[in-house]
Amino acid sequence: MSIPGRAAARRKPPHVLSYTSFRRLWTAMSVCSLGDWLNIVALTALAGNLTAGSGYQTQSLAIGGVFVAKMLPAILLGPLAGAVADRFDRRITMVIADITRFAVVLSIPLFGSHSYQWVVIATLLVECVNLFWVPAKDATVPNLVPKDRLEEANQLNLLVTYGTAPIAALLFALLSVTADMLHRAFSGFSGENIHLALIINALAYLVSALLIFTLRDIPKTHTPIVKPAVLRQIVDGWRFVGGSRIVRGLVIGMLGAFAAGGAVVGVAKAYVGALAGGDAAYGTLFGAVFVGMAIGMFFGPRVLRELSRRRLFGLSIVFAGVALAAISLIHNLVIVVLLTVVLGACAGIAWIIGYTMIGLEVEDRLRGRTFSFLQSLARVVLLLDVALASTLAGLFGSHDLPLGAGMVYRFDGSNLVLVIGAVLAIIVGVVALRLMDDRRGIPMSADLLAALRGERYVPAGTEPPRGLFIAFEGGEGSGKTTQSRLLAISLRDQGFDVVQTREPGSTKIGMRLRAILLDSVHQGLSARAETLLYAADRAEHVEKVIRPALYRGSVVITDRYVDSSLAYQGAGRALAAEDVARVNAWATGDLTPDLTVLIDVPPSIGLTRLGGAADRIESEPDDFHERVRREFRSLAAAEPERYLVVDGTLPQGEVARMVQDRVREILPDPVPRDAEANTGTMPAIRD
Ligand code: TYD
Repeated sequence: MSIPGRAAARRKPPHVLSYTSFRRLWTAMSVCSLGDWLNIVALTALAGNLTAGSGYQTQSLAIGGVFVAKMLPAILLGPLAGAVADRFDRRITMVIADITRFAVVLSIPLFGSHSYQWVVIATLLVECVNLFWVPAKDATVPNLVPKDRLEEANQLNLLVTYGTAPIAALLFALLSVTADMLHRAFSGFSGENIHLALIINALAYLVSALLIFTLRDIPKTHTPIVKPAVLRQIVDGWRFVGGSRIVRGLVIGMLGAFAAGGAVVGVAKAYVGALAGGDAAYGTLFGAVFVGMAIGMFFGPRVLRELSRRRLFGLSIVFAGVALAAISLIHNLVIVVLLTVVLGACAGIAWIIGYTMIGLEVEDRLRGRTFSFLQSLARVVLLLDVALASTLAGLFGSHDLPLGAGMVYRFDGSNLVLVIGAVLAIIVGVVALRLMDDRRGIPMSADLLAALRGERYVPAGTEPPRGLFIAFEGGEGSGKTTQSRLLAISLRDQGFDVVQTREPGSTKIGMRLRAILLDSVHQGLSARAETLLYAADRAEHVEKVIRPALYRGSVVITDRYVDSSLAYQGAGRALAAEDVARVNAWATGDLTPDLTVLIDVPPSIGLTRLGGAADRIESEPDDFHERVRREFRSLAAAEPERYLVVDGTLPQGEVARMVQDRVREILPDPVPRDAEANTGTMPAIRD
């Protein structure tokens, strides 16, 4: 069956990739990103191989040098180049940049594969060219997609920028394995994996040049976007960010996670070498970080749903540190790769939570600045990190520690760097936890174990002393208001502390919601909005009135509760029962009455009992009220131990007696007479 209005409302707007020009630019970007990542892996591997014979120290420094050459241009010249790039025709800028990158990268396997100097110079050149390509690309995207699709487009860009990393790493690993086999089959065949990777990398730039050349709809004139310098962004950013304890914790934690990841990347090649792994192992390790990150980002927050986000954030950084420590001390390549996936997963969880929380904690106006602050700072941290890590690893060199019985434990500079990274990550994680913890006093281990089982930890002994919660339900004119009053009077007479309340409208906000809900002026109120408004009233009611009273140990008697929504909105308005139940479970935090008294009266009788003008709900047709009644009865039939159904057509006194009889069964121990006599107050009930 198709409902006309619904089909139209549901029709999805076309995917951003259906805009041909954007799709072409995006394809070019994806190809380039893949090439960029291949470039990083191949060149650092090449640097390691070129210096393999000259000792551990030189090798570490050489690899670090490539990373530094990759990052330095962006930090020093980024904004400048961006401003210059804005003055040229973007399409031509990108095409020229692509052809230059193609030529420079291709030159390495063709002529320069034996010269470390050329590797560094080529890296610097490619990065300088990137400084023109990237801003031209960023500025072009808004020209190719409508404004309201920009965010989606940017997400897709981000996806390929990072998503291609593991693909590149695995591709490199595959190339290495193939080259290895060829090498074994035909001697004299060596280093071809790196050459092949670089050739693919160069071709990627060429493909991008061709794709962008055909993009004729990039406008030539435009307003330049001048970005402030990286250091300026950091100084300014801290002024906005430093003020809030939580954001401070987030930023420190995220940078810590980043630094830990950076340390791994910085010394990975040397470490893999020390573990007797080749290029394939290096590629796999590099890919493992990203695969782990993807897993962490996707699954982490889902699996540990019940753990407080802030705790999960700090904990994942601490665990990243622990994984890193294990990586640094266990000298087994397979275990190291597996642990690297764990490390990546922890970092991924920290990043996704951090990003989301900054989005929530930082006000709209400052959010853009906060993100660019974070990105700039991350870049600087990563640069310092990689430079420091490889220098330190190089200076420390390689040591053999005798373990006795002729065994030695090798401890290199890369082990040292990883251990330091691990300790730093753990410290940063703990600092973040302390700055941000929102469940102080609750033991972390118990909280975590409960979350792993999918539950939220409630410490023993802190469960609020519970009073008794009784709800009255029934259709219009059933007499439940009278009955709930009679029960309250009788319980008070017995010395109980009773809170008598009703829905909707027992709180300040609730009174305003009630006015909206019952005023006949609002005839057109949609069923879902109505459900949510009743649920909103209920959420407020539970939090402000019912729970505090139960906590004090009182008997709470409410005139209507969740069942009214299930009956009126669910059955009456024909909404899906499970939806209404879910919304209400959330609104009330799953608070369920100990007893629900259903006063059952046929609508034909109940409606005639009403005096005055009918409100919005009372004026619904008869079959609406019939459905409501049927639903109440079936709810009661499903859980007889929690319901009392009374025939509301019986005389008032008789109904009252039946209710009191049933309530007596569930009342806690009788109130001690002397306590009542001594204090004259109504003692609380505890169970
Ligand atoms: P109210 O004047 O309190 O009447 P009653 O004595 O019948 O409780 O009005 C509450 C009205 O709101 C009543 O018609 C039932 C309706 N209602 C819902 O539709 N859903 C709900 O969840 C609740 C609490 C009430």
